[in-house]
Amino acid sequence: MPAHPRVAVIGAGPSGLYAAAALATSDVPVDVDVLDRLPAPYGLVRYGVAPDHVKMKSVIRVLRKPFADGSRVRFLGNVRVGEGGVPLDVLREHYHAIVHASGSSVDRGLGIPGEELPGSHGSGAFVSWYCGHPDFVDLDPALDHPGVVVVGAGNVALDVARVLARGHVEMAATDVPDRVLEALRGSGVTDVHVVVRRGPEHVKFTPAELRQIGDLAGVQVLVHDDGVLAAGVPEPEERRQKQNIAMLTQWAADPGEPAPRRIHLHFHRTPVRLLSEGGRVAGMVVERTGGGPEEILDAGLVVRAIGYAGEPIPGLPYDEAAGIVPNEGGRVAPGSYVTGWIKRGPTGVIGTNKGDAVETVAALLDDLHTLPDPLHPEPESVVEVLEAYGIEPVTWTDWERLDAEEVRLGAARGDAERVKVAELAEMLAAARGRSRTPSR
Ligand SMILES: Cc1cc2nc3c(=O)[nH]c(=O)nc-3n(C[C@H](O)[C@H](O)[C@H](O)COP(=O)(O)OP(=O)(O)OC[C@H]3O[C@@H](n4cnc5c(N)ncnc54)[C@H](O)[C@@H]3O)c2cc1C
Ligand SMILES: NC(=O)c1ccc[n+]([C@@H]2O[C@H](COP(=O)([O-])OP(=O)(O)OC[C@H]3O[C@@H](n4cnc5c(N)ncnc54)[C@H](OP(=O)(O)O)[C@@H]3O)[C@@H](O)[C@H]2O)c1
Repeated sequence: MPAHPRVAVIGAGPSGLYAAAALATSDVPVDVDVLDRLPAPYGLVRYGVAPDHVKMKSVIRVLRKPFADGSRVRFLGNVRVGEGGVPLDVLREHYHAIVHASGSSVDRGLGIPGEELPGSHGSGAFVSWYCGHPDFVDLDPALDHPGVVVVGAGNVALDVARVLARGHVEMAATDVPDRVLEALRGSGVTDVHVVVRRGPEHVKFTPAELRQIGDLAGVQVLVHDDGVLAAGVPEPEERRQKQNIAMLTQWAADPGEPAPRRIHLHFHRTPVRLLSEGGRVAGMVVERTGGGPEEILDAGLVVRAIGYAGEPIPGLPYDEAAGIVPNEGGRVAPGSYVTGWIKRGPTGVIGTNKGDAVETVAALLDDLHTLPDPLHPEPESVVEVLEAYGIEPVTWTDWERLDAEEVRLGAARGDAERVKVAELAEMLAAARGRSRTPSR
């Protein structure tokens, strides 16, 4: 067993932070560096979980535990590993083992004509925009048209539909950046069409999330199912699906009072192509799944919420079809491990990543006595090599400064818990205690 085992975790999302916690609380005194390409931790908890799911975000109280004073876990933010950052091979010279927790951030495509038009986005891009991810501050989605199409029947599709249908007044109480709030304030969206390729018994929504769209003030939910629910769908076995069917059947039978905005749920509809006008999206042609008459859904914005894929990690094997790094219980090879979405694919809630990370860390700890000492075992050598690559890491103390600035901005807006700083330069300035450049 090495006297001072050193482990790098790449990715400060839920899986990386659960792995850091499992390492920090193990019987072995492991030094852990958690590296993330962004100056802020928490991955999709910060840049995926919908802004109006404020309670869900409180999980950060658990996720930040590994960085408590006196712990052996360091945060090295603003450090991209791989292309455009520090090469993995270079990093390997500083650690006994590396845990990859980089998630699945690539938007999958539908493969239909028109998908590349301005106004057509994957949910990864669109959600990142409203969550204030620095890579998407300039997305500028078209919210001037009354119609929007959202493709998919998972919780991400519901998040997107809800954020677009919810009034900007309610969104002001969330952490969305000022620029996003302004765009939502100027939004002309009245009809959000959710396009579902299979029947109501196959949706991946969780009932709590489905119920939320029914509870939105000023929003009517309209079910377009060709009478399938009224005729009675086969009783699903899963409790979750039973609850969904009960809700959808009730909405189909009683669409309630008209409201200023509508969410339409279109079942058994397959996207065929996107229509354009003036060089941008003007609508989507859909057909009944399995063949049937085509219909046009008017839309100035199309968001595909059909799932994600990982990105290959140079030097590690990659399964293109599954979008993951092939592994056995998290072990890719002795010294190389994966956890979270890059390990098992882009499904599962935040908590799913805990058991997943514990399994990976167990494999790592089992291997530890076989792993050779790194070439450069001193903790400071990593910081020096990062500097040689022109990278100035953001420490936990730096992040706490940025965090405090966001909380201050939240109080200034009103009753928001925080307001995100989205521009990378502004994030870094706030983290390093320099004055902020004016917000756009
Ligand atoms: C839109 C959306 C909304 C969701 N909402 C909920 C919800 O409300 N409730 C819930 O329970 N679950 C929700 N989930 C699921 C949950 O977010 C995931 O289960 C979880 O975030 C996966 O964790 P992860 O650590 O594997 O990946 P991620 O959270 O994606 O973290 C990966 C981290 O790796 C970093 N990274 C990537 N590449 C590099 C690199 N080359 N170098 C350095 N760092 C890198 C990224 O910056 C990121 O911080 C949602 C998912 C999505 C997509
Ligand atoms: N509040 C929350 O708890 C919350 C919020 C957001 C996300 N999450 C979690 O994060 C994970 C990812 O969510 P997700 O919504 O991205 O994925 P998901 O739950 O896997 O849903 C993806 C949806 O896209 C559809 N789809 C895939 N390919 C398609 C195509 N070519 N054409 C039309 N539809 C297509 C799928 O339909 P088929 O079923 O027909 O394949 C499915 O309905 C999930 O585990 C989710 O529960 C949780």
